[in-house]
Amino acid sequence: MIKTLFVFGTRPEAIKLCPVVSHLRSIPALFHVEVCVTAQHRAMLDQVLDVFGVQPDYDLDLMQPGQTLSQSTSRIVASLEPVMRASRPDIVVVQGDTTTTLCGALSAFYHQVAVGHVEAGLRTGDLLQPFPEELNRVLTSRISALHFAATEGAARNLRAEGISAGIVVTGNSGIDAVMWIRDRLAAGEAVPGQWSEIPSGKKMILVTAHRRESFGPAFESICMGLARIAQRPDVHIVYPVHRNPNVMDPVSRLLGDLPNVTLLEPLDYVPFIDLMQRACLVITDSGGVQEEGPSLGKPILVMREKTERPEAVEAGTVRLVGTDARRIFEEASLLLDNPEECARMSRVHNPYGDGRASERIAGAIHSFITEKGT
Ligand code: UD1
Ligand code: UDP
Repeated sequence: MIKTLFVFGTRPEAIKLCPVVSHLRSIPALFHVEVCVTAQHRAMLDQVLDVFGVQPDYDLDLMQPGQTLSQSTSRIVASLEPVMRASRPDIVVVQGDTTTTLCGALSAFYHQVAVGHVEAGLRTGDLLQPFPEELNRVLTSRISALHFAATEGAARNLRAEGISAGIVVTGNSGIDAVMWIRDRLAAGEAVPGQWSEIPSGKKMILVTAHRRESFGPAFESICMGLARIAQRPDVHIVYPVHRNPNVMDPVSRLLGDLPNVTLLEPLDYVPFIDLMQRACLVITDSGGVQEEGPSLGKPILVMREKTERPEAVEAGTVRLVGTDARRIFEEASLLLDNPEECARMSRVHNPYGDGRASERIAGAIHSFITEKGT
């Protein structure tokens, strides 16, 4: 029996780890699974735990409004210590590149427990973009024994840093999650609300944005670009706003009163995927949304200067547009006014996974621990 401790804390980590937790829990003869949430996010984490029916064994409940990186880091590392002592896992599994990811890996290292890193090997090559996630990824890779790379490109990035053992290309478990939800919706699952606030007969654009390196002038520029798009009579923008005060303040100031814009609270995962399926275009700076778009056949404009997810950009279904207001407006207009170009970007393809990443991760953990024990 392999004792596996999952440590996560934010919305995207939960979306990408809950399918893995559920898969391991479906094989109780092989895996004993415990879940520790730091609750670096509180409301946005709980929304995902509900969707997947995952109940944490340890809930550190650490989120503070407006938390700084140093505050989160120090609180998470200190609070994980008693969990590691009580759980005594064979392996700790973390995901991605958040403060919780790095702290989970560091705490496991301090307790001499092996780390498995889901979605390993993403790199922009620039420590400031995304900030602080690129450093979190590099440091987590240095600590981890098992590296679950979503793509061959991510595996190559790890090898280029001298990592020679423990790399397994699994696909991204976020694609397991989105395919599960897509199938539930296709089977007729009802979505609360049914979007009565969105006018029919207009092109709906779904927006999300929250990156720390854009806070300040770049975020204002993003909002001004969106405001200009919203002047078009043929569009309606729907924007579920991240709860970070650095996001909520400029968004409500610059977009709150516009007639063609609907601002929403963060959505549960099922309605969010439903909305993405209804959108004609998605404009985002999110990592997870960039990966989900191709699986749902949606064109994505990414409001960042660099991306660590080049596969869909190379395939032509995701385009990097930066944070300049004029560029965001022009790139969106190009697609809205040019159905052929929009159709070219609307191709369904799966560069990030086939929906079976959780199975491959489970297999790799099993082989690693059993080989270590022999
Ligand atoms: C974090 C991650 C980022 C990830 C993002 C996903 C770090 C450094 N950043 O950024 O990599 O892409 O999550 O969304 O780990 N808040 C709430 N309720 C919530 C969630 C957040 O009120 O449910 C507010 C709080 O004021 C909190 C703030 O948002 O202090 C910022 O949260 P934090 O986790 O520090 O950073 P994010 O910007 O969300
Ligand atoms: N998402 C959601 N509700 C929302 C906005 C996004 O469930 O209102 C999901 C989205 O489908 C994706 C994930 O949250 O799976 C992305 O999270 P976020 O953008 O916060 O983080 P990132 O992926 O950039 O780290």
